[in-house]
Amino acid sequence: MNSSELFDAAKEAMRHAYAPYSQFPVGAALITDTGKLFSGCNIENASYPEGWCAETTALAHMVMAGESKIAAVAVVAEKMALITPCGGCRQRLKEFGAPDTLVHLCDENGVVETVTLGDLLPKGFAFPGDKG
Ligand code: THU
Repeated sequence: MNSSELFDAAKEAMRHAYAPYSQFPVGAALITDTGKLFSGCNIENASYPEGWCAETTALAHMVMAGESKIAAVAVVAEKMALITPCGGCRQRLKEFGAPDTLVHLCDENGVVETVTLGDLLPKGFAFPGDKG
């Protein structure tokens, strides 16, 4: 799967965003090392801190399908020329990715910039002895 197909999946996921409080719809899609695609949207809550990000929804789908290794990610937001995953999602993605995992940062028309998870989260938390 190429980055443009991953973008398409993220944009489609964004249509499902539940963001009545921020009015800031986000979509994310990821492809696993086994070639499976998962996507997600942000899901907010009247109790604001209880909402969560699009990346987190996509990761939940991946884990529930029994998968655990991310090969690449795409993120898109309706109202931003280029969105980068929040700090918490960087750490969540790190759990299932690697420093060289590609993260495609998109606007509504496609991929704007491609970076790695290592670029986004240098020195992320890991237990002693864990790699990455
Ligand atoms: N959001 C995401 O879904 N992913 C990110 O990486 C950044 C922020 C969502 C959370 C919240 O629903 C809205 O964007 C505004 O912060």
